Amino acid sequence: MSAYPHLNDLVATRLSRRSILGGLATLPLLSGVGCATAPGGRTGGAGTPTFVSVAATRADRISVPAGYTARTLIGWGDALFDADDRGRRLGELDLDSLDRHAQSHRFGTHNDMLALFPRVLTYPAPRDGRAHILCSNHEYFDPALAFPGLRRAEDLGHEQLETLFAAMGVTVVAVDQEPGGRWSVVRDPRPGQGVNRRITPFTPVRFSGPAADHPWLQHATAAFRAAEPAPPSTVPCGTLANCAGGQTPWGTYLTSEENFQSYFRAQPDDTRAAQVAAEDPVLAADAASFGYRLEGGRRPWPAPAPYDLATNPYGAAAYGWVVEIDPYDPISVPVKRTAIGRKKAENAASALARDGRAVIYQGDDQLNEFVYKFVSQGRFDADDRSSNLRLLDQGTLHAARFEADGTGRWLPLRLEAANAAAAEVGAPGFTDEGDLMMRARAAARLLGATPTDRPEDVEAMVDEAWVGTGQVFIPCTKGAEAAPPRPGRPTREGADRNEPQANPAGHVIRIEEDGADCAATTFRWEIFLVGGDPAAEGVRGTLVNGRDFLPSVAEAGRMPSYAGVPLACPDNLCFDGSGNVWVTTDGAHDVFGDCNDMVVVASTAPGADRPELKRFMVGPLGAEICGPTFSPDGRAFLAAIQHPGEFDASGADFSDLRWEEPARAPLSSFPDGPGTWPRSAVVYVVKDDGGRIGT
Ligand code: FEO
Ligand code: CA
Ligand code: CA
Ligand code: CA
Repeated sequence: MSAYPHLNDLVATRLSRRSILGGLATLPLLSGVGCATAPGGRTGGAGTPTFVSVAATRADRISVPAGYTARTLIGWGDALFDADDRGRRLGELDLDSLDRHAQSHRFGTHNDMLALFPRVLTYPAPRDGRAHILCSNHEYFDPALAFPGLRRAEDLGHEQLETLFAAMGVTVVAVDQEPGGRWSVVRDPRPGQGVNRRITPFTPVRFSGPAADHPWLQHATAAFRAAEPAPPSTVPCGTLANCAGGQTPWGTYLTSEENFQSYFRAQPDDTRAAQVAAEDPVLAADAASFGYRLEGGRRPWPAPAPYDLATNPYGAAAYGWVVEIDPYDPISVPVKRTAIGRKKAENAASALARDGRAVIYQGDDQLNEFVYKFVSQGRFDADDRSSNLRLLDQGTLHAARFEADGTGRWLPLRLEAANAAAAEVGAPGFTDEGDLMMRARAAARLLGATPTDRPEDVEAMVDEAWVGTGQVFIPCTKGAEAAPPRPGRPTREGADRNEPQANPAGHVIRIEEDGADCAATTFRWEIFLVGGDPAAEGVRGTLVNGRDFLPSVAEAGRMPSYAGVPLACPDNLCFDGSGNVWVTTDGAHDVFGDCNDMVVVASTAPGADRPELKRFMVGPLGAEICGPTFSPDGRAFLAAIQHPGEFDASGADFSDLRWEEPARAPLSSFPDGPGTWPRSAVVYVVKDDGGRIGT
């Protein structure tokens, strides 16, 4: 046993104490909890859902439990309008003839985060609302999955690449939940005549907060403005690499720019960017941290001009931010909130502190990067939306430090402390608050934040009024590289627990903020779920690639963290109204070869019994599942099916197969069925008896 008490025990102790003192109703874990990305999803009864787990499968379809039905709501290329901004009818989808202009009127590709807003802004959101606004992120594109008629990768032209850039970003679209359980998209006649809109990497945006005038951004935005027209005080750099995000109590959508580095290139033999970096070692360090290559050397890529690092060496400074979007106003300018810091964040989950300050949790999804929390200076005011719309411009960014004794601290990223820490090790200091936010990763590292195994969708439980209960869950998707034991990382049963271990199946951390307050500066943590196989017979198992791994779901000598189906590579999370956490996976098939990526659910209720993990959904072949969210009435579960057909059951990658054999049939035909080209799409699951999901 480890020396420190398990968080479950601590919560259970307090629970029994408080139940003596005055009843259970005020306990954070038992109050009405919801998902910070859709407060209010409620499944009715307490405890783990009643369905029988879906069997493991590599079938190319959505599999859900008996008594449930999954349907497609919207997919890549589906029109959001009857006609475009020039009045031309948007006809049937033909992927090969899609251009940038058409794509900017149609649903994007590689959908990730999903959020539902009530069509009429209300705080708190009504439970029985059936008219929604759906916001969806579009994370990336894959040329192999894009144009069915393309014969060779090198034939991908500038116009097609612009089309694919325009397939990233965000979609805002009205959807109706009909009484019989069907959902439908509400097309607007023309752009601007309803809420529907696309925000792409070409959309004019605004920068706000301390880094808005950072010298790197001044360089970068000049290059973006030279390439595209944009109204004064905006920059036509839009948003891209939108993985997950969040939604705020004041009715805005937050989208996080994650793997933005992939879109920047320097052409082979073009040394201009490398020369700039030679004179600016801080830029070189930024490129090394985020992984964009200033030195060139990759094959030519006819990307839009501002993504050529030779002419725009500071271009990557325009990304890595949280972008706030007002889904109620189709002509509002999205705002990049630099006060939250620049990183490769998966998401941006919001909760209110006990005193009304806004708190944003984020995981920086790269190996050995950190978990963050921004606490606003001002307070949420339900009656003053315009002041809420400025909340994310001033506040304090913190990074998490996990201690071995199960406690933790939120380290504030402050200029003076960061510069003192930099001076101590001879690292470049920070010129001002803006520079601190531009290089938040460097500051967090200098101040002693704890490296993690790719933290993904950090989610806070919130109550009906969006006040955080203090319970925060952090899925660490995987840490393939062997690392010595460290706080926040499970140590699985093995030959020698002090040996460095790899963590290919990942884990989920649970944080309890001190005082059950999301603005707390200290917390307790535990490993909540350990990726692996609860039915494993030995301490060693074999990954799909033949390598050894430790499948135990027990951590540091404790009892197994769960029973039921195996979990690997957790990515996105949400909560239902019964205190269950719903987890989607990204890459579980690389650990257990018998099943596509899936959605599993576990109870978070405290107590001695380990939760039973149940499998609610299995996705089609080659897809990860993202964006889990419930309708406000709890009668529908929505998820984003991302990149169906990216690989087959053997793990072979379609982008390799396709260019070797150009007439190759796709590996998936989701969602349109046999003989069709695969598309990323949003699905919804309802109970056949119309009941709440899970009951
Ligand atoms: Fe885009 Fe962190 O997964
Ligand atoms: Ca993804
Ligand atoms: Ca993700
Ligand atoms: Ca992922």
